[in-house]
Amino acid sequence: MPSRTPGDPISRLRSRLRSRGRRGPRRAARVLAVCAALFCTGSLLTPAAGHAAEAATEGSPRVRALVARMTLDEKLSFVHWTAGPTGGPLARGVGYLPGVPRLGIPPLQASDGPVGVRLNGVRATALPTPTALAATFDDSLATAYGTVLGHEGRALGQDVVLGPMVNTIRVPHGGRNFETFSEDPLVTSRTAAAEIKGIQSQGLMATVKHFAGNNQETDRFTVDASIDEQTLQEVELPAFRSAVDAGAAAVMCSYNGVNGTPSCGNDQLLQKVLREQWGFKGWVMSDWLATHATTDLTKGLDQELGLEMGKPTDPVPDARHFGAALRAALRDGTVPQAALDRSVTRIVGQMERFGLLDAARPRPARDAQAGRDTARRIAENGAVLLRNTTVAGRPALPLTGPAGSDLTVIGDSALRPKVSGLGSAHVVPDGAGAPLDALRERAGSGATVRYEPGVDRLGTPLTAEQLSPAFTGGRQLDPGGDRTFYDGTLTVPADGDYRIGLRVDGGLAVLQIDGQSPVYAADSFSETTSVVLRLTRGTHKLSMNGWAWPDRPLSVDLTWVTPEQAARNLDRAVAAAAAARTAVVFVQDEGSEGYDRPSLSLPDGQDELVTAVTRANPNTVVVLNTGSSVLMPWLAGTAAVLDMWYPGQEGARATAALLYGDANPSGKLTQTFPASESAQPMAGHPERFPGVGGKQTYSEGVNVGHRWYEQQGVAPLFPFGHGLSYTTFDYRDLAVERTGAGAAVHVTVRNTGSVAGKEAVQVYLGPSGLVSAPQAVRALAAYTKVSLEPGEEKRVTLPVDARRLQYWDTRGHAWQNAPGPRTVTVGSSSADIRLTGRLNQ
Ligand code: BGC
Repeated sequence: MPSRTPGDPISRLRSRLRSRGRRGPRRAARVLAVCAALFCTGSLLTPAAGHAAEAATEGSPRVRALVARMTLDEKLSFVHWTAGPTGGPLARGVGYLPGVPRLGIPPLQASDGPVGVRLNGVRATALPTPTALAATFDDSLATAYGTVLGHEGRALGQDVVLGPMVNTIRVPHGGRNFETFSEDPLVTSRTAAAEIKGIQSQGLMATVKHFAGNNQETDRFTVDASIDEQTLQEVELPAFRSAVDAGAAAVMCSYNGVNGTPSCGNDQLLQKVLREQWGFKGWVMSDWLATHATTDLTKGLDQELGLEMGKPTDPVPDARHFGAALRAALRDGTVPQAALDRSVTRIVGQMERFGLLDAARPRPARDAQAGRDTARRIAENGAVLLRNTTVAGRPALPLTGPAGSDLTVIGDSALRPKVSGLGSAHVVPDGAGAPLDALRERAGSGATVRYEPGVDRLGTPLTAEQLSPAFTGGRQLDPGGDRTFYDGTLTVPADGDYRIGLRVDGGLAVLQIDGQSPVYAADSFSETTSVVLRLTRGTHKLSMNGWAWPDRPLSVDLTWVTPEQAARNLDRAVAAAAAARTAVVFVQDEGSEGYDRPSLSLPDGQDELVTAVTRANPNTVVVLNTGSSVLMPWLAGTAAVLDMWYPGQEGARATAALLYGDANPSGKLTQTFPASESAQPMAGHPERFPGVGGKQTYSEGVNVGHRWYEQQGVAPLFPFGHGLSYTTFDYRDLAVERTGAGAAVHVTVRNTGSVAGKEAVQVYLGPSGLVSAPQAVRALAAYTKVSLEPGEEKRVTLPVDARRLQYWDTRGHAWQNAPGPRTVTVGSSSADIRLTGRLNQ
C-alpha cells in the first residue's frame, strides 16, 4: 500500500469536507501558493499572438441578448461552480450554477464521471474502466458507453459530466492510467470522440479533461510538463482535438503546468491552440482548485471549479478567484468586462446548443437494465486474453470438461469484486456480484468449486480481545463534522506485519496507530482500504476520526489480518490449488487518482501467491483486476492469463462467460506491458518521471509507449495491440492505395478456427525517408474490429486519415505531409505483423 501523499484522493476529500466546515481555504491556499510560485512565462508552441477579447463575435444573437440583459451578479454566477441547494460534492454532484430564472436560464448541475455518473450515495451504473473500453478497439461500444453515461446523467439530474479523461498513458506507474484510454493518440482520439457523441446524444454535456499533459499524479498540483512542440501536437493533443471536433461542450484544464505556465492560465494552450487552431466554441473550466489567478479569465479560462468559499445560502456564492475577486478586478480594470461577457456567452451558448434555454426539458427515467447490459458487453469485449497455453493437448481456456468442473478459486477480488479504480471516478454501483458466485453458477451443481482468499485484504473484525475499549461500527456523526470517534488501544500478541483494514459507509474515516501511518477509507472514493503495518508485541494507541455525509450515519468496520493468518491463508490456498484440476487466481492492483503506483508489481504479496499456486498446480489461470500494466514474474508458470481490468459492476458474469467460452475474448492492449521495472521508457530517466526540480520532461519525444520499445529494441512482456482469441485469424491479400489526402488499406481476414470471434485488425505506418523530424518506427494508422463466424472471411477496408500521413513541423508550426513511400504493415498486434505493403505517394 503506497503511503498517502498530501494530494491523495482522501486528503483531497478531506479538504473538500473541511472547506464546508470553513477550514479548507488554509490547505488550498498552501497548494495554490506552490502553484503560484511556478506561474511564469514561457512559449509553448509559437510566439504568442495578441488575444483580444472577442465577446462581440461569439454566441448567437439570442445568447448575446441574454448576456446583455444580465446584471453583474448574474454574470459572475456563471463563472464559478457552487455547492448549490443539493450540497455540492458532499452530497450530490460536483457543482451547481444557479442560472437566471428571470431570463429563463435554468440552473446547471455537474457530476464527475469518466466511469459512470458519480453522485455520493446515489447508485448508478459502474461501467468498466476506460482502459477496458479502449481495449475493445470498437467505436460503437465507446458510443454505447457514452450513451449510458449521458442517459443516466440526465436521469439523475445532471447537465454536465466531467469526462472523458483523454491524457496519454505515458508513465506505466501513472495512478490514473485506468481512467484514460491508451498510450496511442489514434486509439485515444477515436475512443474519446465516439464516447462524447454517445454522452451528448442524450443531452448531457461532456467535459474532456485534463488539458493538457496530466500524465502522472506525483506532484500533480505543481509539476510542470515540459513537452516539445512536436510531441505535444502529435501525441498528447490529438485526443483533445478529436474531442473538440466531436463537439465536446467543455474542456477542463489540468493542475499541472505545460512548458512553464499552469495549464489553467496558459493562453498558448487555451487560446492559441484551443480557440485559434481548433476553433473550440465551448467553455473551459479549471480542474478542482486549479484556477490560479483572477486574470486567468483573460487567458482563456472561463470558469472556476472548486467550492472554496461558496455557501449554499449565498445569493451569489463567492469563489476564490472568479467571485468577489473578479468583481474587484473588473472594477479596477485588471480584467476587462468583455472577458467576463465572453466567458458567460460561451457557457450560455452551450446551454442554448443543448436546448436548455427552451421549455424545461423532461428528464428521462433511469434505465438500469440498459446500463447493466452495456457494462457487461463492454467488460466482455474489453477483456484481453494475454496468454493461453496448451495443457494436456487442449488450450487451458476456455474451461471445459473436468478442467471446468473441479476448480479452486483464489484471491480477494474473486469474493469482493474489484469494480473500479479509486478517486473522483469512483461510482457507487447498483450492485456488483462476486466472480466466485458467477463461476459457481456457471460451473453448475455437479461441479466442485472451492474458495481460498490466498491474500485476504480485510481479514476478520478486531474484537474486544484486541481493542480496548471495544468498538462497534455504527456512528452518528454531525453531518460535515470532523470528529474523533474512537480513542483506545490495540494489543498485538507478537512482533510482525499486521494488515489493518477499514470499510466505511456514509462518509470518510481515518485511522491512526501510534499517531502514525494514517489509513483512510471513504465510500465515495473506495469502500475498503487496508494497509500492512509492522507492529511490535504489546499495546498501541489507536484512534479514528470520521466525517459523515449529511444524510446518514457513518458506519465503520475495523478488521485485521495477523501474520499467522496471512501465512495460513497462503498455505491453504496452495493446498487447495493442488487438490483441484484448475486453479483460478484473481489478483488486483490499486490504480488511484492522487498518487502513482510505487511499483509495477502486484501489491500485497500477490506475486508470491501466484508463484506458489503455479508451483502447486501448473493448470493455473490468472485473472487480472488491474487498471494498467503490471509485471508478471510468475507468467511462465501459468496456463493462461486473462486481463479483465477493473470490469465495472457486471464484471463477475463477464469473467465467468469468458473463462467458460460463452464469450470469446477480443480485447487488445492499448498500452505496452513492460517486462521489468527497468525495461520501460521512464527507467533511468528521473527527468521523465517523476521529474526533477518540479519538472517532468518528455525527453522520449514522440516515442511514447510502444514506439519507444520499437525504437530502443526493448522487448516488452506484452506488446501494444496484443490480445488472443479462442479462435485464430488468417490475413491475406493486402492492397494499399492513395485516396485523396489519405489512403485506404484493404485486407482479407478469415476465421480459421471453430468458434465465432472478433479481431481488431491494426494498420501501422513506417516513417517517411524524406522527413528529418523524429518519427516512430511504426505508428498506428488505422484499425477496425471485424466479427467472423467459423470459416468466414471478409474483405475489410481501413481508411487512413490524411493526418496520419503528416507530421508536425516545428519550423512552420503546422502539420506537413510526410512525402515519399511508406511501409504499411498489418497485424494482429504491433509485434504480430502478418502482412507488409507499401504506400506510394
Ligand atoms: C480531478 C478531476 C475531477 C475533479 C472534480 C479533480 O481533482 O482531477 O478529474 O473531475 O477533481 O472532482
